[in-house]
Amino acid sequence: MVTKHEFKAGMQRLASGVCVIAAADRDSPHGKAGWRGFTATAVMSVSDSPPTLGVGINKSTRAHDVIMRAGRFSVNILQCEQDDIADTFAGRTGADGGERFETGDWRVSGEGCPLLAGTLATFECSLLDRIDAGTHTVAIGRIERVRLPDTEVSAPPTPLVYWYREYGGVCPIPQG
Ligand SMILES: Cc1cc2nc3c(=O)[nH]c(=O)nc-3n(C[C@H](O)[C@H](O)[C@H](O)COP(=O)(O)O)c2cc1C
Repeated sequence: MVTKHEFKAGMQRLASGVCVIAAADRDSPHGKAGWRGFTATAVMSVSDSPPTLGVGINKSTRAHDVIMRAGRFSVNILQCEQDDIADTFAGRTGADGGERFETGDWRVSGEGCPLLAGTLATFECSLLDRIDAGTHTVAIGRIERVRLPDTEVSAPPTPLVYWYREYGGVCPIPQG
């Protein structure tokens, strides 16, 4: 039997890009008050046709039911300077609910989904499927739109990475 401690000790060695998952509650008033979001590393590419990704969402996360009801969510891949946003959406600053969206430059898509500006990439997804997995739901999102920064005018930005319970960047290995 693998204990929670062993599970966490193993998984913390997997370096992961940090994302914020966000959605707007269908049943709430318009605007940020009805928005919910959380920091996530359990994000994976699933398929390129149709373009899909997966997100592991703890069922106790306040955004969980909002995403299930809305049937739409965004995946915002953070740059390394956006660690304050990661902390905010992980509940580490005390900001809660719609208040979290005061940190970062948030816009709203035509479909009413919150999207963060200044990311490495942002995906807007519709909820295609959900898989029940213990404490978590794996939400499968069909990627409807992708926003990429203009890397032609600048070098690609450094991602925010989480490893051993710390944030870091990446250090490319020189080739040749
Ligand atoms: C680096 C990092 C990665 C996280 N990854 C996930 C994740 O993939 N899925 C998840 O459900 N929670 C994840 N969490 C935890 C949530 O961000 C955290 O519990 C958040 O406060 C949940 O939102 P709530 O307070 O509105 O319920 C992560 C936290 C951190 C700091």
